[in-house]
This record gives sequence, C-alpha cells and structure tokens, in this order.
Amino acid sequence: MNHFRFHAYTDIRFGEGQIGALPELLAPYGKKILLVYGGGSIKKNGLHRQVLKLLSDFSVYELSGVEPNPKITSVREGVKLCKEHGIEAVLAVGGGSVIDAAKVIAGGAFYDGDPWDLVISPAKIGTVLPIVTVLTLAATGSEMNKNAVISNMETNEKLGTASHDFIPKASICDPTYLYTLPSRQTAAGTADIMSHLFEQYFQNEKRAFISDRFAEGLLKACIKYCPIALEEPANYEARANLMWASTQALNGLTSCGKGGAWTCHPIEHELSAYYDITHGVGLAIVTPRWFRYILNDETVGKFCEYGRNVWSITEPDAYKCANMAIDATEEFFSECGIPMTLTELGIDDSKFALMAEKAVRFGGLANAYVPLTEEDVVNILKACL
Ligand code: NZQ
Ligand code: ZN
Repeated sequence: MNHFRFHAYTDIRFGEGQIGALPELLAPYGKKILLVYGGGSIKKNGLHRQVLKLLSDFSVYELSGVEPNPKITSVREGVKLCKEHGIEAVLAVGGGSVIDAAKVIAGGAFYDGDPWDLVISPAKIGTVLPIVTVLTLAATGSEMNKNAVISNMETNEKLGTASHDFIPKASICDPTYLYTLPSRQTAAGTADIMSHLFEQYFQNEKRAFISDRFAEGLLKACIKYCPIALEEPANYEARANLMWASTQALNGLTSCGKGGAWTCHPIEHELSAYYDITHGVGLAIVTPRWFRYILNDETVGKFCEYGRNVWSITEPDAYKCANMAIDATEEFFSECGIPMTLTELGIDDSKFALMAEKAVRFGGLANAYVPLTEEDVVNILKACL
C-alpha cells in the first residue's frame, strides 16, 4: 500500500432538516456571505427562501445562474462580488457545478489576476475564503473534496484544479433535497459516483485491500439504490444511500494507498469542453468501451474481482467473468435511462483527434492504469459512436 494523507475535516451534517444548522456553521467566519446557486432549481423547491430566512442576521449577496459545467465567466462575476462587498464566506447551494464555482470564487477573492489562472495553475491558489455547502445532487463528492472543475468555452477547455483549502468547512447533506431531481440527473449522478470508484479501483497498486472493499460496497449501493430512486423519487433510504455514496466515493477514502492517473474523466472532460454534455452521461458512455479496450491478460483478474465482488458473478472462466461484469455495467447504465452512444448526443468523430491529444496531455494518460496514447483514445471514442 502506498503512503497517503487522509485529512477529512469537513463537518458533515447529514439527514432531513439539517439545514437548521446553517447559521451556526457560518457564524465563525463572519456576517458577509456570498450565496452561490444555479439556474433556479433551489427557487422552485423553496430552498432559496429557506436559506435566506435562516440567514436573516447575515448580509447575504447572491450569485445566481451558475451553469452545469460551470463557466469561468460565472466565477469572474462571483470574484467581483467578493471583492466589492468584502465577503467573508462563500455558501454554495446546489450540485457539483455550483460548489466547484464557489471554490474558485473563494480562491479568486484573494487573487489579483484573472481567476482562470487558478484553474490552469493550482500553485497560484493562495488564501481561500471559507466554503460551506448545501448539497442538492448526489454525484461529484465536491461537498467533501478539494477539487473544482471549470470550463472556458472560449478556449474549449474544461480543467480540474485543486487546493486543500477548497475542502468545504461544512456541508449539509439532506437527502430530501434530491427528491426534485429529474431522472436524467439522478442517473447521470450515479454514473459519476461509479466512475469515481472505477477510476480509483482500476489502478496498479494491488495491496490496498481496504480501499477496494470500500469501493465495492459503494458500487453495490449505487447499483441497488439508483433504480429505486428512479422508480420512487421520494424514497428517503435510496436518496440517503446515494448521497452518502457520492460523498465517500471522492473524498480520498477509496484512493488511500492507491494512485495513478484517471482515464474516463480526462476523456469526458474533452467531450464536455467541446459539446457541453452532462458529465455523468459522458462517463457512462465511455466507461464500458474503456473497460473492453483495456481487457487483457494483465487486467482480466481485476475485472473478474470486480465481477465477483460487485455483481456476484460465479463464472469460473476469467475472461468470461470479466466480460459479464463489463456487460452488466453497460446494461445497468442503459437501464437507468442513460443514452449510451455519442451519436445519440449528436457527437460525431470530427473532433476526436483534437480531443484525444488534449486528454492525453491534460490527463497524463501515460500514467493511467493501462497507459493510453492519442490513438488509443481515438479508438475508444470511435467505439462510443
Ligand atoms: O442549476 P440548477 O437550476 O440548480 O439545476 C441543476 C442543473 O441543471 C440541476 N439540479 C441540481 N440539484 C437539483 C437540480 N434539479 C432539481 N432538483 C435538485 N435538487 O441539475 C443540473 C446539473 O447540476 P450540476 O451541478 O451540473 O451537476 P453535478 O453535481 O453532476 O456536477 C457536475 C459538474 O461537476 C464536475 C463535472 O465535471 C461537472 O462540471 N465534477 C466535479 C468534481 C469535483 N469537484 O470533485 C469531480 C467530478 O468528476 C466532476 O468532474
Ligand atoms: Zn466525475
């Protein structure tokens, strides 16, 4: 097992009605709050009103309209508000896009240049305003991690940045906020959670037994509860388990003692950078094609381990077992209603070479579980058509 740092300091308030703790969670940081949210879902479900009521003793400034695949233009607006009003803490209420934008805004508040610099050069991130989140979508794990992914549509770049100080001080995770999610987002969010687990599970370090068993348990939770949440959107048990899976899948827990570059995420980020697609949908499409592409004598054992421990496959032949596990993964995404080809999203092969070049460069795919070249990425993308 590799050495690792696991420093989980986010104060998680999990369960129905935890929003009541919001004033207490923000109070240590000051009175001037920037409330960051998306395109209006929190107005429709009454959360916006509730937050403002709870924060009646605070001075709340608002940045609304943060887009899915958050854009640097929204971040710039947020940074401007922070500087103009002397904001003391950033409160993100929404999904991963809102939280990610809030993180870079919180870093940009103390940075003199363009906040895009903080995306392309994480080393430039200095002091960061405290961040508190209220999660409304189970997917990214941003509620308890150090990452932020921001898009620049002028340059067709979607890039991840990170800082230890981006880790939220506190996150309110109330599963009832997931009840209003459209099926498409529930399914895409689950595919994202599963992809985070796959990216960490399929790595070359073989001795991180505990991390892999955690990952398998979380994968089983996704497989069990996503169909229930799709069938019964207000099923508390299903929403709660998906929400906690989201947090645990990307807070460092399942990568302890492991390492190596990710594969599907850099490829998906290129699809989003050019076509602005839903992150989890892109991952669901790429994942089974990536699995099949890298299945070989070295990897077959790991795929079979996944098949046996997650899908309860008992087939003794290793290759058959591995293929059954890959097919089961693809069928699961499809049964959750996710479109499973790029063609269905209106994407053709015209930008594959460009995207492959950038995925390999930005994603460091030479260090992935199975190292990939530009040609490999083009082949995987072709299989997604
Ligand atoms: O904008 P609003 O109106 O709020 O609507 C959102 C948005 O349209 C809607 N939504 C969210 N909660 C809702 C709701 N609708 C009804 N009821 C609710 N309770 O869902 C739509 C998608 O929201 P978004 O925040 O974009 O989704 P998600 O949480 O999947 O975040 C995706 C972004 O996170 C990045 C992705 O690349 C993408 O940009 N990622 C961030 C990571 C991280 N910080 O660690 C890691 C991930 O791998 C990922 O790359
Ligand atoms: Zn993801």
